Amino acid sequence: MNKSTGVLLIAMLTAGTAWADDGVQAHIEEGKGVIKAFFGALKGELVKGMKEHGPVNTIATCSKVAPSLAAGHSQMSGWEVARTSLKLRNPDNAADAWETAVLHEFESRKAAGEDPMKLVKAEVVEEKGRKVFRMMKAIPTAEVCTKCHGEAIADPVTAKLDEFYPQDKARGYKVGDLRGAFTLKKSL
Ligand code: HEC
Repeated sequence: MNKSTGVLLIAMLTAGTAWADDGVQAHIEEGKGVIKAFFGALKGELVKGMKEHGPVNTIATCSKVAPSLAAGHSQMSGWEVARTSLKLRNPDNAADAWETAVLHEFESRKAAGEDPMKLVKAEVVEEKGRKVFRMMKAIPTAEVCTKCHGEAIADPVTAKLDEFYPQDKARGYKVGDLRGAFTLKKSL
């Protein structure tokens, strides 16, 4: 192979890689948009509920609104949209094997110094013989979250949580801890 053929080959390989990346990158950008819309809607409901009714009454709203917003945003976007965690409040939000592995990966990446606000994982995987694009984005714990997920939850809030979620494990979080992640899925 002479020098110019070599350069051409490298140029082609690089271009090929760039094209492949562009495909995934476009899905990631689209996924981020879906997460932003879903998160925005959730946060809006949460802030409104906390302001107008306080945490005890927002639990009941949250138990209905969060799953229906996830369903609505799935229908609207064509992605499967949900939230999950290693320590669940609602057992319906349970992580599958891929999600569990990613949640552990996020914990190690955060421990290694990555910004928890920017932890994202995207991958094309095969499920039942079909290609599926999967993506997760970490959800760090903010101050407002500790009212219902923190270490010192007020007694009336605890009582309401016990009533709605007898198997609740989503307590004891400190500001900055990873509460869970958004999880998205789309058949290719
Ligand atoms: C008013 C109480 C309340 C507050 C405040 C609150 N949550 Fe929750 N959270 C809930 C309830 C109730 C559920 C269960 C919703 C469901 O049934 O899907 C939940 C579920 C979740 C889940 C889904 C995984 C699971 O454990 O089932 C995540 C992730 C989550 N919350 C993150 C947060 C974050 C981040 C904040 C702060 C921005 C926050 N929550 C603030 C009550 C609250």
